[in-house]
Amino acid sequence: MWGKLEFENVSKKYGDVLALDNVSFTVESGNFFSLLGPSGCGKTTLLRLVAGFEMPDSGRVLLDGQDITSLPPYKRPVNTVFQNYALFPHLSLWENIAFGLRVAKRPSQEIHSEVEKMLQLIQMEDHAHKRPDQISGGQKQRVAIARALINKPRILLLDEPLSALDLKLRQKMLFEIDLIHDEVGITFLFVTHDQTEAMAVSDRIAVMHQGKVEQIGTPVELYEAPDSSFVAAFIGDTNFLDGIVTEHVNKDYCVLKLDGLPDVLCFNDKQLNIGDFSHLSIRPEKIHISREPPAPHALHNLLTAVVDDIIYKGDHTNYWVRTGDYRISVSLQHKRFLLDEVPITWGEKVWIYWHANDGYMLKRWHAADEHLTQLPPEKVGGSEEEPEEHEA
Ligand SMILES: Nc1ncnc2c1ncn2[C@@H]1O[C@H](COP(=O)(O)OP(=O)(O)O)[C@@H](O)[C@H]1O
Ligand SMILES: [Mg+2]
Repeated sequence: MWGKLEFENVSKKYGDVLALDNVSFTVESGNFFSLLGPSGCGKTTLLRLVAGFEMPDSGRVLLDGQDITSLPPYKRPVNTVFQNYALFPHLSLWENIAFGLRVAKRPSQEIHSEVEKMLQLIQMEDHAHKRPDQISGGQKQRVAIARALINKPRILLLDEPLSALDLKLRQKMLFEIDLIHDEVGITFLFVTHDQTEAMAVSDRIAVMHQGKVEQIGTPVELYEAPDSSFVAAFIGDTNFLDGIVTEHVNKDYCVLKLDGLPDVLCFNDKQLNIGDFSHLSIRPEKIHISREPPAPHALHNLLTAVVDDIIYKGDHTNYWVRTGDYRISVSLQHKRFLLDEVPITWGEKVWIYWHANDGYMLKRWHAADEHLTQLPPEKVGGSEEEPEEHEA
């Protein structure tokens, strides 16, 4: 199977800006692989290196084992779908899709059957005679995908293909792109700054930050086992607690001494030593909140707190609770809202608790990420705000 892509120590500078900083990773053939990160982190630059629109300053790009670093774009078996569709306005959809095969001077019989196949794939058979200005944004994007696929590339590159669409349509198109991927089976390299998009469809995701790959993994790995504070905060919401390891408990756990809070028990899969400074990430939905003290449990961390703010979100409520110097975000899923209990309200004293295995010790901490979770001026233990850079 074709479409295996390798980046080997790729770096790229624009003037003083280091757009890519020694990037190395592999995309396996047939994967739906996403490049995820805030605006300016180098996603498009990486994609342009694959398309051949840019050359790296150092390093290599390999496609199916062949070095394509300096191959001109038209010689590469890859094709790109852009955010703004880039369809020819004066051509019918049929001719837009046929374009690549016409350029390649394929026989007209082949062009005909391939275009019909593509129209079927994107379910636009009935619109083939229309011009781009007569169809919707979502339909334009489907045509752009068909046009990019008709040359049978080994890799389809998609650079924020949905960002011009509104939310509902974006979700629908994402689902369609996923179906098209299943249908054609080639490698998709999908660029997005939207973590929910990447999580929904990707086999694997590379999270990028300031020209570097922070972490690569499946959506579950990135959400459940983030390596760094950046990944923990960029993918979903989380609370950060900082402390010093003071004790080992059995072989799997350690005690983290926090500033102004009782000690907490942590799963020690990072093999931290006594005296190590560490950061714990606990996601809001992993923390329980209750008015009554829960039954004691050897592996639960239990704190008292006071409800500071309540944000009702329909399917769940987000409670901000204050404990010691921290403000912690706790999310409570509604199965049956208001039916069998009086909801917890502002100013109430509550118990919050989580299982030691549900907290996650981070290997790397970026001081710059503190702004992701801190609501000035007080010290804050969680994030509800999206980091600013999310917006493209
Ligand atoms: N042609 C260019 N000239 C100068 N700077 C560029 C150029 N292209 C990208 N950059 C810079 O390189 C960095 C990475 O850009 P880009 O790859 O477009 O990021 P992303 O797609 O993740 O938003 C940014 O700081 C951007 O301003
Ligand atoms: Mg970009």
